Amino acid sequence: MCPVEIDTLKERVAACGQSHVLACWDTLDPGRQDALVHQLATVPLESIPDLVECHVHGYAAEAPPSDLAPAVVTTPDDSMAAEFSSRGETIIREGKVAAFTVAGGQGTRLGWGGPKGTFPATPVSGKPLFRVFAEQIEAASQRWGTPIRWYIMTSEANDAATRSFFADNNWFGLSRTQVMLFPQGMMPCLDAASGSMLMDGPGRLAMSPDGHGGAIAALERSGALEQMEMLGIEHVSYFQVDNPMPPVIDPVFLGLHADPAYSSGEMSSKMVPKISPAEKVGVFCRVGSKTDVIEYSDLPEALQSETDADGQLRFDAGNIAVHLLGVEFIRRLTAGNEMPWHRALKKVPYYDTTRGERIEPDEPNGVKLERFIFDALPLATKPAILRVDRAREFAPIKNATGADSPASSRQAQSDLYGGWMEARGVDVARGEDGHVLADIEISPLAAMGPGELDAADLPERVGPEERFVL
Ligand code: UD1
Repeated sequence: MCPVEIDTLKERVAACGQSHVLACWDTLDPGRQDALVHQLATVPLESIPDLVECHVHGYAAEAPPSDLAPAVVTTPDDSMAAEFSSRGETIIREGKVAAFTVAGGQGTRLGWGGPKGTFPATPVSGKPLFRVFAEQIEAASQRWGTPIRWYIMTSEANDAATRSFFADNNWFGLSRTQVMLFPQGMMPCLDAASGSMLMDGPGRLAMSPDGHGGAIAALERSGALEQMEMLGIEHVSYFQVDNPMPPVIDPVFLGLHADPAYSSGEMSSKMVPKISPAEKVGVFCRVGSKTDVIEYSDLPEALQSETDADGQLRFDAGNIAVHLLGVEFIRRLTAGNEMPWHRALKKVPYYDTTRGERIEPDEPNGVKLERFIFDALPLATKPAILRVDRAREFAPIKNATGADSPASSRQAQSDLYGGWMEARGVDVARGEDGHVLADIEISPLAAMGPGELDAADLPERVGPEERFVL
């Protein structure tokens, strides 16, 4: 970098009160200087003072809005569902929908070393999550006669490992051009006391992933959005890497999303009723005329457990993080800077530029900034929220044990597929609690629902502890 350029950069960081990031500049070798310049180029420097003011100096936990009301939810009957499905199928056949997985998270709670999508998720063959989705995409592509594109957002920390996993698995049989991986963005970690950007080393900022809401910017930066526009893709089917259950290409959901009577086609979401007031899911709510998600940690206990006249939870619309986003809507979001940042106070190891040493903090010292995809909902003019069946759609793998664990997800999968087999007359062993006692797994390539099991070679009975895979 020439002296004039470094002077300009010094002025820019000084103008946002962050001169210390270049404090060690003269001690860095040219390679490190270049790396730091590149890293700084990814930071929205001019926004830093406002972010510091909002999330460090002036931060106050926001109380939920006082006009919070339950979200309006669509529960289609059979004939509505058939209508939605037929409209949705046309959209799929016309090649207007793509699948999109957010897989940038670290899987820390699960304690899995690799990218979460590499985690063995299914009850019998232990298929990794990425294979589960790949099979669904292949099955849907075959069913509707069009190669469905699959976009996957990784992060700096897992991008290389995710790409190797796909390459090692021969892209799970999908064509190489069908799949596009790209990393999400990073944001600088701020010192929780001073608002200074924390350093990871003398020539490196401490940064953290910008949240799944970073998907909007990442779709644009990577060229994925432009590719979608060129290919005539109009809708993006968004889902999280941690839930092997939902049909990732769902004609009923698409049909609802594309029906102007229910939705503006900008953003639609799926919900399941919460199983308990304390279940750790965000809740779809109405705030004035807008639809929003209030995270479980932000919904006061009194509201979590409030019941209506029928004794049902009033705020029960659990967010399973399955959304449809219109490509035009995504483009509009990239043009504005409307999605808010959320702060998380964490322990962030850092390099102290004045003392010249690395510090491992004992207490949370750093503010990480993230965007959430569901903050796009209030920006949509008319979002639709579709009620779906938890047993069919939601058994995420988040924790090593207990709720939302590999064991609970495998059980939910066996329960679902056991139910499909029972619907075809198979006697499936169940315990007193109603759960299937066998391990059962059905690939979407074999059947996407119980109706497609007719041609399959099914046993008369699946007994306790038996294993059945199709
Ligand atoms: C999330 C939702 C919650 C919802 C629940 C359903 C948030 C804040 N909350 O909770 O409303 O009820 O899922 O299971 O999201 N990810 C990235 N990049 C990031 C951060 C996350 O790609 O920077 C991805 C992860 O890989 C994962 C997903 O986003 O697929 C969810 O992230 P996580 O932080 O685990 O959210 P939850 O707390 O489980």
